[in-house]
Amino acid sequence: MRKALLVLTVSIVAAQSGKYGVGRAPAPEEIKRLDLTVLPDGTGLPAGGGSAAEGKLVYERRCQRCHGAEAKGGDEVAMVGGQGTLPTPKPLKTVGSYWPHATTLFDYVRRAMPFKEPGILTADQVYAVTAYILQLNGIIKDGERMDAKSLPAVRMPNRDGFIPDSRPDTGPKAKR
Ligand code: HEC
Repeated sequence: MRKALLVLTVSIVAAQSGKYGVGRAPAPEEIKRLDLTVLPDGTGLPAGGGSAAEGKLVYERRCQRCHGAEAKGGDEVAMVGGQGTLPTPKPLKTVGSYWPHATTLFDYVRRAMPFKEPGILTADQVYAVTAYILQLNGIIKDGERMDAKSLPAVRMPNRDGFIPDSRPDTGPKAKR
């Protein structure tokens, strides 16, 4: 298996170097389509925006069949509820109770949802459905619009529930 991987890597590098006349450098547009990462502080968020009212329509059309009415869970996980359950013997980890950053919700939905058709939503639709899920959790108020400025400013209930691991062999400074 290792050998196969090595051969594959070598051939990709060789292909890109033009030696065999196959492959080409990706166009900036192609890179842009894949360069989707949004960091916790909001770096990488695109232009656009949306409200929970708009997001409700997106949710009902694109998400409800799997995640259930009002994101309370269906065939797939709930995205609402569980706040206050984390220190109990039956913690319910949802976006609302567990996730530390609202920006991760945008990143995840844009990258991976709807499950079988990721990438079909516009930036406005992703902002809107993000707003809807936050509003269902009582984290933002009705009518609050989510965009590149307001979303990183949302404080998630479990924001301080993650403890940085200070051991020297972990974290960004660790030698790898
Ligand atoms: C076809 C079914 C399906 C549809 C439609 C769908 N999802 Fe999902 N969703 C999933 C599955 C399956 C997972 C778990 C994926 C995994 O763990 O890799 C998931 C996970 C998630 C999670 C992570 C939840 C957590 O706590 O880990 C979020 C957030 C989410 N979906 C949002 C959405 C949104 C928003 C939409 C609509 C735009 C949507 N999903 C549409 C199937 C679906």
